[in-house]
Amino acid sequence: MLISPSLLAADFGNLEREMQWFNQSDADWLHLDVMDGVFVPNISFGFPVMQSVARLCQRPLDVHLMIVEPQKFFPEVAKLGAKFCNFHFEAAVHHHRLIQQIRDLGMQPAITLCPSTPVSALSEILPDLDMVLLMSVNPGFGGQKFIPRTLDKVRELVALREQTGSHALIEIDGGVNATTAPLLTEAGADVLVAGSAVFAAPDPNEAIRTIKGA
Ligand code: DX5
Ligand code: ZN
Repeated sequence: MLISPSLLAADFGNLEREMQWFNQSDADWLHLDVMDGVFVPNISFGFPVMQSVARLCQRPLDVHLMIVEPQKFFPEVAKLGAKFCNFHFEAAVHHHRLIQQIRDLGMQPAITLCPSTPVSALSEILPDLDMVLLMSVNPGFGGQKFIPRTLDKVRELVALREQTGSHALIEIDGGVNATTAPLLTEAGADVLVAGSAVFAAPDPNEAIRTIKGA
């Protein structure tokens, strides 16, 4: 299991210190949650903050854009050196074109589905994606409760991946912790995002190891 801790739950007054332990940890990627106050009812951080974090972080960046018109910012995400550029299915119309734009910028394309969007929405584009992120809470806030129906969506996505010959990784975001991680592993998830379960833990690397080993 890969783990992508979400910076949203970090201490923003001490980002350099957070990145120091993070770079020594067992984390695989760093998950960056970009919110615009329009697509989701919250605002997180923007590119100046992420540029500083990108300079400090020694792990691949997994950028989750919770914004309208995400394509406007793909070049900025590429400038960060991000590995994955992840936009919401619900925030776009021309998904196929946006996926190509991300590839042309040298990044790996990923699409996120809100809890109310069915997995079947991806049936035509799954082979073009390197990752699908299933939200297991409604996007916009950390520390929310895991929506159990996500487990069935993971199984449905595993089946659709097989049917379409896709190799997309399955990533889950929201309410991931030591209790929900084993259920997600069993359902077939490949990557788990965890914010509060990691950054608010007394020993964050212990929390990372527990979730990874679930
Ligand atoms: C929510 C974000 C998540 C958030 C997860 O909209 O996409 O990445 O940081 O936080 P936890 O792990 O606390 O649910
Ligand atoms: Zn996220």
